[in-house]
Amino acid sequence: MDLHLTDARPTPEEREAVASVLGPPESAWEGADRSRIGLEGHVARGGLRRAEERRTLLLPALLALQDRVGWISEGALNHVCERLGVPPAEAYGVASFYALLATEPRPARVAHVCDDLACRVAGAEALCRDLEGRLGPPGTPAADGGATWFRSPCLGRCDRAPAVFFQQAGPEPHAWSLAPTTAEQVAGVLAGEPWDRLAPPQAPLPQAELPGGREAFRLLRRVGVVDPGSIDDYRAHGGYEALRAALELGPEAVIREVKDARVLGRGGAAFPMGVKWEAVARQPVRPKYVVCNADESEPGTFKDRVLMEEDPFAVVEALTIAGYATGAERGYVYVRGEYPLAFRRLGRAVQEARARGFLGRDILGRGFSFEIELRRGAGAYICGEETALFNSIEGRRGEPRNKPPFPVTHGLFGRPTAINNVETLVNVLEILRVGAEAYAATGTPGSTGTRLFCLSGCVERPGLYEVEMGVALRELLDLAGGVRGGRPLRAVLLGGAAGTFLGPDELDLRLSFEDARAAGASLGSGVVMAFDDTVDLRDVVLRIAAFFRDESCGQCVPCRVGTVRQEEALARLARGRPIGSRERELALLADVWRVMKDASICGLGQLAPLAVESAISKLGVFDGEGA
Ligand SMILES: Cc1cc2nc3c(=O)[nH]c(=O)nc-3n(C[C@H](O)[C@H](O)[C@H](O)COP(=O)(O)O)c2cc1C
Ligand code: SF4
Ligand code: FES
Repeated sequence: MDLHLTDARPTPEEREAVASVLGPPESAWEGADRSRIGLEGHVARGGLRRAEERRTLLLPALLALQDRVGWISEGALNHVCERLGVPPAEAYGVASFYALLATEPRPARVAHVCDDLACRVAGAEALCRDLEGRLGPPGTPAADGGATWFRSPCLGRCDRAPAVFFQQAGPEPHAWSLAPTTAEQVAGVLAGEPWDRLAPPQAPLPQAELPGGREAFRLLRRVGVVDPGSIDDYRAHGGYEALRAALELGPEAVIREVKDARVLGRGGAAFPMGVKWEAVARQPVRPKYVVCNADESEPGTFKDRVLMEEDPFAVVEALTIAGYATGAERGYVYVRGEYPLAFRRLGRAVQEARARGFLGRDILGRGFSFEIELRRGAGAYICGEETALFNSIEGRRGEPRNKPPFPVTHGLFGRPTAINNVETLVNVLEILRVGAEAYAATGTPGSTGTRLFCLSGCVERPGLYEVEMGVALRELLDLAGGVRGGRPLRAVLLGGAAGTFLGPDELDLRLSFEDARAAGASLGSGVVMAFDDTVDLRDVVLRIAAFFRDESCGQCVPCRVGTVRQEEALARLARGRPIGSRERELALLADVWRVMKDASICGLGQLAPLAVESAISKLGVFDGEGA
């Protein structure tokens, strides 16, 4: 196939970066230097099938270039295309899809400063203005051209807002996060100050400090207790007992336990985990896959990060059990690109598990073979949507697919796939520890087990909390110390940017899937963000609208255009300059929302109006003066 490459060639550094993922080129067909290969260079290997298989390495290769050079040049892109047999237009389409990849020259050191919801409440706007004063607008080269900064959506560190994520490209690339942070610190790191002096102590689990707090933990029981780098410590705290129990029970019995436990997915859609696993187990097709969705990018969410950073072996063990139960031979964990610590710790856990016979061939001598591969995202909220995530792993743009067909029959690489959220998966360890009956006795009949809630915004003790399903929102807020400084509560955002606002009169809502549904809300990804009377909710709502406009993949018109129209209408309302009248503007918005909800391909477009709509209808956010 003629790939139609341009004349631009890679530098030695770029070749090296690509080779670090793909290995050295085998032939001139793959971009090897023709002068350095013999006859072998004239032999085309593999053919189309191999090229398709290799395409899954496209994103890892682009990330390697980004890490090494700080951006992806035309010559580098040509080289990747040659090596993988991917047309440059398609590779460019992928490279330009992700926020953490640059297709124009970018300095080696970059700060991504969160200006999303919880960070705004913690002064992110002032921090960004301060940075503008010191360094110029986002994207301006600073520190003699060696550094720059950008605004970022939520970085999953909302409990310690405001947050920043740094990337340092080079032969020894590095990425790290800092929260809370200040403009001085960001500017200092960009100017070359050593970053490690600024690394904050581990975020505490505020609930663990409360009387009886730790006893409430099921999913968090090892967090803050176990050494996340040691498989021995993990085993000393009950690790790998669930896998042993699963291997004793056999796959069908494991699925029966999971079904009897009635655990619903924690990633947002609340689908029964056991039903999903059973559907995949029944597929006669091979290979099959299990995928752990660790892309956690919903603004306000940081629960999966805490599990992955502090108890990584639990994620590895739970995914191994999923593989065993469904008959999958391979698992993938797709980790959000902004979670470098989680990625590193999971990587180590996979290696250790393999070295100790908990992964690989014939696990624990029971004839079960299973491997786990980690994949790193590159900054795209939409890649948390399950089919977009599959496309991303396959080396395509992270655009959602139409459903049906569903992943249980046509998932990753078109094969049967069980995909679950990190928190959902970790529940299987608890189910196998206490048994389905005891597990199902916790929570409510419709929402069994415990739930992780991410508390942030104007609460006294922001952080991750684990409570039984069905606890009242008021109790959860009390657990977090109530509203900061005893101020009046103005609103709670439940479920994230794709969730809904609740007013202070709705604090008796029980936090279960069924109660939330009945109240026209959803638990979403477990976000509970509180706003007191000092917060300008118009600003919050405008940020939500900007988030969805930015993150829409643009594939379907109702979402691509609807998210823009929504933001424009809200901006006019906020300025007090509606088209016609406020009523007309709201009627226009209602029309746009109807089309988005009815006709968008995926949940992003369908859910993008919800928080805005609830803020207007319940909280009267755009009522009153000037609007
Ligand atoms: C726009 C969008 C973003 C999503 N992001 C995530 C995510 O970051 N993590 C996640 O687990 N699920 C996310 N989901 C839900 C997944 O599509 C899928 O339902 C989930 O991974 C299934 O796992 P569960 O059954 O364990 O919840 C998202 C869905 C949509 C529509
Ligand atoms: S709804 Fe939005 S995010 Fe989803 S496919 Fe359509 S354009 Fe993409
Ligand atoms: S880290 Fe800034 S809002 Fe989540």
